[in-house]
Amino acid sequence: MKDKIKYTFPDNFLIGTSTAAYQIEGAWNEDGKGENIWDKLTHTIPKAVTNEDNGDIACDSYHKYKEDVSLLKDIGFNIYRFSLNWTRILPDGDLSHINQKGIDYYHRLIDELLNNKIEPMVTLYHWDLPQKLQEIGGWLNPLLVNYFEDYVRLVFQLYGNKVKWWNTINEPLEIVHGYSEKRYAPYLDLDAMSVDYIAGHTLLKAHARAYHVYDKEFRHIQKGKLSLTLSGFFYSPMSDSQEDRDAAERANQFEFGWFGHPVYSKDGDYPPIMRELVDKRSKEEGRQRSRLPVFTKAEIEEIRGTSDYLTMNHYTSRLCTSGIDPTAKVRFQDANFISHIDENWPSCQAVWLKVVPWGFRDMFRWLKKEYDNQPVYITENGYCDEGEIIDVNRVNYLREYITEMLIAIYDYGCNIIGYNFWSLLDNFEWLNGYSYKFGIVHVDFNDPERKRTPKFSVKFIKNIIQDRIIPQ
Ligand code: NOJ
Repeated sequence: MKDKIKYTFPDNFLIGTSTAAYQIEGAWNEDGKGENIWDKLTHTIPKAVTNEDNGDIACDSYHKYKEDVSLLKDIGFNIYRFSLNWTRILPDGDLSHINQKGIDYYHRLIDELLNNKIEPMVTLYHWDLPQKLQEIGGWLNPLLVNYFEDYVRLVFQLYGNKVKWWNTINEPLEIVHGYSEKRYAPYLDLDAMSVDYIAGHTLLKAHARAYHVYDKEFRHIQKGKLSLTLSGFFYSPMSDSQEDRDAAERANQFEFGWFGHPVYSKDGDYPPIMRELVDKRSKEEGRQRSRLPVFTKAEIEEIRGTSDYLTMNHYTSRLCTSGIDPTAKVRFQDANFISHIDENWPSCQAVWLKVVPWGFRDMFRWLKKEYDNQPVYITENGYCDEGEIIDVNRVNYLREYITEMLIAIYDYGCNIIGYNFWSLLDNFEWLNGYSYKFGIVHVDFNDPERKRTPKFSVKFIKNIIQDRIIPQ
């Protein structure tokens, strides 16, 4: 433990924090904003969200963005990742109606950041699809690629001179579960045999389209960087056996590789093992064609290499053995692995989040091997509790995870360029509403003013940023 003292942050390493529009902005119908799938879900489906919470007001950051930026500045962050609410800019999702007031809001936010010397990092899509586009099938409709193209072109035109860090789509791996298991809006449970893969196919094409729009029309002047934001649990073998090791590799290919391989690998396309296994299972099911859609050669080329850096959200890990669990998701069954939790791993408020710091390090090593050590930016990592102000468990989690990240850099040569805490504020945690708190700043949701109170972890983070070292 002692020598970990040597683990200081490399020069130029960026430290920031992240949020997302629906989770913090509120002002759901103000200044001409249109309805999105989260407005729709929270307003029309009783009991879908814990306590029937919604994002109508959330942290009220639409009105309190100056206070948010002053918190960012006070803590000392270099960079702030937030997302644009598509329906603030295009209320109907398409160019039929452009909403100047929504556009102005993001100008004000970005200007406030820049005036305080905080770099904006902008996510173009963090799950709040315009309801009008859901009415035509959402991401199951390949036409969404064109709508996304129109939206992002406008965004680059509007903000590209000020924003240099872009994330196209946040966590496609999660988005698809809004179609198959009611885990997110649009809250559907369509046939899981295929919808995840179909939605994923469109999301990959939409990402690539956005990248090419930027590359052809804006990059030479705006000189920014784009990425697709991946996510996932890291899977480690349950034992040292070859069988378990193979199972973990398959699991990681279906977890990170599904969206990572087409974009970030040298070869492009879905991971070969994913192709092979879904094709095989589809045949066994008596199907003539695979459930995993097929990219044409041109599409593979169109998607391959569409990134300037790799963004990753990571929170937790699992252990893996080989086999099929008939109660597991179709994807897990296709991949032929069973996921396990070690009883000794500490738990927290979020049932899925076990504290496994070493998994973070091993994930970086896997990414380095898979994707040629291209620059990785951690766009989200954080801990969930019930909102304690003295959040000692959060500090411990962060200390241990960041230490493992620095070990990955120094001992394993992983090319990691930045790290963002999730999240600046306690916020609307999707179907868990306000019952899950990830913020380093407490928000009082009973207070109409949404009073913000920095937690103990803010002290810890301020020190890290000042000293650029992780205290052990
Ligand atoms: C990932 C998502 O991007 C974010 O919106 C969410 O709040 C965190 N994970 C925590 O679950």
